[in-house]
Amino acid sequence: MVKICCIGAGYVGGPTMAVIALKCPSIEVAVVDISVSRINAWNSDELPIYEPGLDEVVKQCRGKNLFFSTNVEKHVSEADIIFVSVNTPTKTRGLGAGKAADLTYWESAARMIADVSKSDKIVVEKSTVPVKTAEAIEKILSHNSKGIKYQILSNPEFLAEGTAIEDLFKPDRVLIGGRDTPGGQKAINALRDVYAHWVPQDRIICTNIWSAELSKLAANAFLAQRISSVNAMSALCEATGANVTQVSHAVGRDTRIGPKFLNASVGFGGSCFQKDILNLVYICECNGLTEVANYWKQVIKVNDYQKSRFVNRVVSSMFNTVSGKKIAILGFAFKKDTGDTRETPAIDVCKGLLGDKANLSIYDPQVTMDQIQKDLSMNKFDWDHPIHLQPMSPTTVKQVSVAWDAYEAAKDAHGLCILTEWDEFRALDYQKIFNSMQKPAFVFDGRNIVDVKKLREIGFIVYSIGKPLDSWLKDMPAMA
Ligand code: NAI
Repeated sequence: MVKICCIGAGYVGGPTMAVIALKCPSIEVAVVDISVSRINAWNSDELPIYEPGLDEVVKQCRGKNLFFSTNVEKHVSEADIIFVSVNTPTKTRGLGAGKAADLTYWESAARMIADVSKSDKIVVEKSTVPVKTAEAIEKILSHNSKGIKYQILSNPEFLAEGTAIEDLFKPDRVLIGGRDTPGGQKAINALRDVYAHWVPQDRIICTNIWSAELSKLAANAFLAQRISSVNAMSALCEATGANVTQVSHAVGRDTRIGPKFLNASVGFGGSCFQKDILNLVYICECNGLTEVANYWKQVIKVNDYQKSRFVNRVVSSMFNTVSGKKIAILGFAFKKDTGDTRETPAIDVCKGLLGDKANLSIYDPQVTMDQIQKDLSMNKFDWDHPIHLQPMSPTTVKQVSVAWDAYEAAKDAHGLCILTEWDEFRALDYQKIFNSMQKPAFVFDGRNIVDVKKLREIGFIVYSIGKPLDSWLKDMPAMA
């Protein structure tokens, strides 16, 4: 029986391995992590992450050919194939701080593999890493020269949170990069055989190792760039009276462009886009490619601009101050169908409003009060380095409350901001919400999910990103 071990039981390691176990009953899969609480959660009825369909997959395989354990060394030493799916956050200090990927977790995993291995291994980069990481990993793995042979493969993960199980069942492609040597090709084939249990051959792309590493960074940069492009257009739409939904539709009908990922919003979030672009920028700079680095930097700048533009719009619409006013925040996760709040635009929007002394009442169906408080207390980039966690300041504690549902959040509020596109926010009784709010009642839709016309008929003053402004907002220009 082939044995797989995955180091890192996070958003990628957990679901990816659960699907491999489901699709390959002849393979034994162990997912290991240094976090005891995470592993305990994977072994309980309350999984540590929320993903539609994940519970069913885990329940079908757990205890049969899928195991979650903190006994990292045992499972690593027994495995034939080791996936490394640890976090690779942005460095917060030292050389490249604020841009380069922090490979501390990766390096410590690689050193441990070298120390405990007693047989040849295939080591798979599942984490997103800078191009050329495999070279460094090879050096670490062979540092104690026990005569063990390692083949390093790059197999970046393209799943999207919120649709992870669907994406893993039917991936657009699986990418495997390896060395162009007989050993490298043999390793590629071994990994291809795993995916071939359920992924059609023509969707499994095999490349050289550097192409695979770089393709992941490139894919995330392209995706984020589409969002920043449409968000840049949304600002122009507001200034000219065009409607960004109509513009995206017309643009996306061009088959060379395509319709996906063209929704204007308050900005992109999630643990990957910003981190991976910053990493790309750093790699470009290290290679002397300043113009290329500047091009990609702009994608992040536009994203930051979009978030601050939203905050400015809220404040300027409400007579240039939100001090002491209750603002309801609907949605805190970075997108619907996930409880993940890493780099969510809600953090920057909430911090912006708190800076103007608003009182926030926050509701998200999947995010806990504890998580929201942690997120609002952290500095940029600290979210993936939990040791830096700061307690929330007493003033912030007073300004933030967490509500059980959207109606409670909105009660007596002056304004309501929709920051995540949860389906339930489309179906709310907005008349009931309007009746319970202070007047004039404002809705700021950061995800373009409400029926603007209907809400205006109810009596709301509505701002919806990239849509024609109503006369109230025209008279109160945002000072972005
Ligand atoms: P995560 O933070 O949810 O999980 C990483 C896990 O690795 C943590 O549970 C941590 O305790 C564990 N870990 C760290 N060092 C360890 C060690 N030495 N030994 C054992 N366990 C260790 O991270 P996530 O979101 O799963 O991301 C992992 C990688 O996958 C990152 O490089 C990310 O960029 C990439 N990725 C993430 C995607 C996402 O949607 N979250 C999608 C595609 C790629």
